[in-house]
Amino acid sequence: MSATSSVQTATAHAAPLESVSAESAPIEAVAATSSAVPRRSAVVALAAAGSALVAILTPVVSGATVFLDPVFRKQSAFRGAKEGFLPAIPVADLPSDGSPRLVTLIADRVDAWNVFVHQAIGKVYLRQIEGQVIAFNNICPHLGCKVTYRHDGNDFLCPCHGAVFGADGACTNEIAPRGMDVLETRVDENGLVWVKYQNFRRGTAEKVAV
Ligand code: FES
Repeated sequence: MSATSSVQTATAHAAPLESVSAESAPIEAVAATSSAVPRRSAVVALAAAGSALVAILTPVVSGATVFLDPVFRKQSAFRGAKEGFLPAIPVADLPSDGSPRLVTLIADRVDAWNVFVHQAIGKVYLRQIEGQVIAFNNICPHLGCKVTYRHDGNDFLCPCHGAVFGADGACTNEIAPRGMDVLETRVDENGLVWVKYQNFRRGTAEKVAV
């Protein structure tokens, strides 16, 4: 065997130990290696962008919630109301003989971002009978005129179409479809009467709050 052929044989045995260059590697392996790094970078960049978006949006959403809250809030329409009850007058100021007293309910009305102080919210007739306080909305359940109390007859008359109601608020003729609307009342520990003021659908036999 010549010296040249010995060298060729040694080179052929040594080949598997040599590193494989990109140029000589299979196409699939090169593609996998070159796309893995950019994909990882894209995922990291996406996660960072998501975190930044959350950090920016959190105070914005919180602020918007607080800002829009009055629009969606129904329960604080009247400032100073307690569970929907408005202060009226001391129970001691009601006639002791049970005759009605017309009382205007006053409160600060909150309308979205505006506050209208000392507004007349509505009128009620209050009666004190055997330690109980009864309230009637003075809006006629027929078509919404104002009912007035008649001392002579101890009853209520609506001047618009002549509906008449007894002292207990029940109809005494057939003009109104139902009696006067009774409202919930409370008397607190200081003797102040509170009224849950509500209006109801007119012209219907059922009492439906509006
Ligand atoms: S509105 Fe009262 S009788 Fe018609």
